[in-house]
Amino acid sequence: MSESELKKIREQLARALRERDRYRNELDRLQRRINKMAVPPLLLATVSRIVDDAFAVIHTPSGNDFLVASPFESLKAGDVVGVDQQTLKIVKILPPNVDAFVAGMELDEKPRETYEDIGGLDDIIVTLREVVELPLTNPELFEIIGIEPPNGVLLEGPPGTGKTLIARAVANATNATFIRLVGSELIQKYIGEGARLVRELFALAREKAPAVLFIDEIDAVASKRTQDSQVSDREVQRTLMQLLAEMDGFNALDQVKIIAATNRPDILDPAILRPGRFDRIIKVGLPDAKGRAEIFKIHTRNMPLENVNLEKMAMQLENLSGADIKSICTEAGMNAIRSNRKTVKMEDFKFAYDKYIRKVRESRPAAPVYS
Ligand SMILES: Nc1ncnc2c1ncn2[C@@H]1O[C@H](COP(=O)(O)OP(=O)(O)OP(=O)(O)O)[C@@H](O)[C@H]1O
Ligand SMILES: [Mg+2]
Repeated sequence: MSESELKKIREQLARALRERDRYRNELDRLQRRINKMAVPPLLLATVSRIVDDAFAVIHTPSGNDFLVASPFESLKAGDVVGVDQQTLKIVKILPPNVDAFVAGMELDEKPRETYEDIGGLDDIIVTLREVVELPLTNPELFEIIGIEPPNGVLLEGPPGTGKTLIARAVANATNATFIRLVGSELIQKYIGEGARLVRELFALAREKAPAVLFIDEIDAVASKRTQDSQVSDREVQRTLMQLLAEMDGFNALDQVKIIAATNRPDILDPAILRPGRFDRIIKVGLPDAKGRAEIFKIHTRNMPLENVNLEKMAMQLENLSGADIKSICTEAGMNAIRSNRKTVKMEDFKFAYDKYIRKVRESRPAAPVYS
């Protein structure tokens, strides 16, 4: 073989090797793309707290909390993470300002509760339908008559009287998008992000209109100055200011209604009650005897009762909230199961009530007094 032939072959070899490397790189690149695409979609969850630096409590969109291993040292409460749908293993920490976070976390599917599930609050339901449901379902009526329905309604009343329940039933009836925001979560979970979250939720509500934006436990973000530490106080103030700004920026055509609920109206900042904000206040009180009977009926709907006089019970047992009645009914059912019976009897309700009273005596003195 001549010298020149040899040189030619060497050159060819070098070229072939370069080509090989190029294809290898290309192969790697494509393989990486394939791997990327093969990762199953991750579930978005929020870290609510870190336990012993090795575990994290995550809050998932289904509303459940899980304790999982924390693989990232930098993980902190408030982070949004992508978790494996099956194992809930934390795979990735999302950078802040991810919009999907709001969309994914707070958008409830349509609530299942209906007006049928609410006892003793007929007047309140009528009012709410007028000021929230009707403007969403028949806005033209208000245009014809030339009035503007209120933007926001505030439900106030003692714990367990059905405030959250009513808001969910309204959303069910309107077919509107239901966005729920819990005041205490805003402050505790989304530390430092409260104001941003409020802004994004309002934007989301407008985008998804017609929508009902439900702010539960609004006292947590709209309380007068608290005794808490300076930092959280400032955070509360910032969140509140954002909330007020959003409400002021509302117009009737937005097709977004806000329902707020609180069991501490006494500590609310008066600023949220100014005109154009929550100018309709609806008081939800403890049910009367008739209301109690209705609630007993609702919560025993699926129970095989034997000689139980619900009306009589409702007459005699005073000062019970809807939630109290529900827990008494559940406890009565439990007692029937414990007694190996297939029916629930009056004695079960007596047992449940006695147990309830004992619990109240133990716990209520410390509970906040409702005024
Ligand atoms: N009027 C009612 N009719 C039927 N069930 C009721 C009623 N009120 C309360 N309940 C039952 O009690 C549960 C708790 O009520 P709900 O969460 O609506 O109370 P709340 O007024 O929002 O209390 P809180 O102020 O503590 O948030 C409801 O899910 C429901 O099962
Ligand atoms: Mg509630």
